[in-house]
Amino acid sequence: MIKFDRVTKRYADGTVAVDDLSLEVPTGEITVFVGPSGCGKTTSLRMINRMIDATEGQILLDGVDVKTIDPPTLRRGIGYVIQQAGLFPHRKIVDNVATVPYLLGWDRKKARDRAMELLERVGLDLKMADRYPFQLSGGQQQRVGVARALAADPPVLLMDEPFSAVDPIVRTSLQEELLRLQAELNKTIVFVTHDIDEAIKLGDRVAVLRVGGRLAQLADPPTLLARPADDFVREFLGRDRGIRRLSFVSDEGLRLRADLTVSVSADVSTVRGADESWLAVVDGENRPLGWASVKDLPETGTLADVRLAPYGTFVRGRDSLRGALDAALLSPSGSAIAVDEEGRAEGVATREALDEALGKVAGGVGA
Ligand SMILES: Nc1ncnc2c1ncn2[C@@H]1O[C@H](COP(=O)(O)OP(=O)(O)OP(=O)(O)O)[C@@H](O)[C@H]1O
Ligand SMILES: [Mg+2]
Repeated sequence: MIKFDRVTKRYADGTVAVDDLSLEVPTGEITVFVGPSGCGKTTSLRMINRMIDATEGQILLDGVDVKTIDPPTLRRGIGYVIQQAGLFPHRKIVDNVATVPYLLGWDRKKARDRAMELLERVGLDLKMADRYPFQLSGGQQQRVGVARALAADPPVLLMDEPFSAVDPIVRTSLQEELLRLQAELNKTIVFVTHDIDEAIKLGDRVAVLRVGGRLAQLADPPTLLARPADDFVREFLGRDRGIRRLSFVSDEGLRLRADLTVSVSADVSTVRGADESWLAVVDGENRPLGWASVKDLPETGTLADVRLAPYGTFVRGRDSLRGALDAALLSPSGSAIAVDEEGRAEGVATREALDEALGKVAGGVGA
């Protein structure tokens, strides 16, 4: 655990970058520091590994004041990733990743093996190992930056806007990669960003800072979205708070109707009298094929003869209520088809069912 205990940083010119900050960063979790430019995020982060020393207060790493640990020793246990990766331009990728192991005196082969293993872990083609940083895209360099920070297997990882310089698509994949890695590695991560969506996506807990380096709120994402502490936090969270909150509400309580899915081999005469205007048609393996409009059914034949409208599905137990609602909005029937992880239909979440589930969230019960 990392503990900030009444930490203040005053720079030589009198600027108070961080003001009386107290918070705890739990072991094995991602804690995000988010806030507008100049609110002291980088300063706070760098005080942990003593690139900057606090003016007042203490930072405790597993109970030990970092000021009592000499910086090289301290940093051995703390990986550090920055924007644009900060790779050494004249070293090959593999040697960039092996930087800390070399410093620790590992033999060359062991260090390189470790580097190769990590490159694979962060999703890079091993062909890249012998290239130089300028021969990689920004997103690839960023992955190398993460691999390098993990090389000596430090328990703590500090990440300062690591994904800010890449385009939104690459950024999304880097975020997902980080969450996947974290699920395996369980590092204690402090992640700095000015992007609230990134904070909400990655953080187990999110610390919102305001200019002057003061903590505005520390909470898990659903709590932050549901109950911002004040106007500053509310404004910083931006629009669509209510909708975004649905991402954290499980869809598992959604009532599904199995009677609204029919096999493509069914005869039209058997479904003509259905009391719904749309039916979800599935193949022999129960995978959705599309929606059939009941009033437009032909006189004879099977559902295989019917032109089906494209459908919205959500993966039950994984996609959250927001995913279910989104699928319903994209579907001509206004209902969403729930599928399992293999893509097999489990039933249909009708508008009534969605309405019921949303009603519970609106009342605060679903959070
Ligand atoms: N060496 C320094 N001397 C004086 N003031 C500084 C110094 N470094 C940072 N500051 C000031 O301290 C405040 C916090 O800076 P910091 O870099 O921690 O902000 P930040 O939240 O990381 O901002 P950004 O989102 O722009 O990276 C700012 O007002 C900045 O100008
Ligand atoms: Mg910064």
